[in-house]
Amino acid sequence: MKRLLLLNGPNINLLGKREKEFYGEYTLQHIEENIAKLVEAHGFELNSRQSNHEGELVDYLQEANGKYEGIIFNPAAYTHTSIALRDCIKAIETPVIEVHISNVHNREEFRHYSMLAPVCYGQIVGLGYTGYRLAAMAFIDK
Ligand code: DQA
Repeated sequence: MKRLLLLNGPNINLLGKREKEFYGEYTLQHIEENIAKLVEAHGFELNSRQSNHEGELVDYLQEANGKYEGIIFNPAAYTHTSIALRDCIKAIETPVIEVHISNVHNREEFRHYSMLAPVCYGQIVGLGYTGYRLAAMAFIDK
């Protein structure tokens, strides 16, 4: 069966409690269940992982290489800083779509730059949790 990986970075486990004006009311569990249902309706299986640790995210990406049709990835704060994640995404063959729940471009300037976007297959920003749904659909249509 074709599979997608939903990967979330630091503090995304606090969704539903954290800065709701940016990140909304939904919990991570709600989002993971919702995306799982969406992809299953199209004959795909979803695996979900979250980590607050940069190296662990690198491990998950490396392990995922070749096993998934695509990776839906919200790298959270590491988006703006992580050369390790950038090198990893560049090194693996499995395509990655970078997702941000909030519109990083109308927030602080340090959020405007993504280390990862140049090595990603695509990027979705500012559409709330719908961004994860759109990323899933992009891989399903691919
Ligand atoms: C985020 C945006 C990042 O700047 C921030 O550090 C996050 C969440 C988003 O989904 O909007 O933790 O990736």
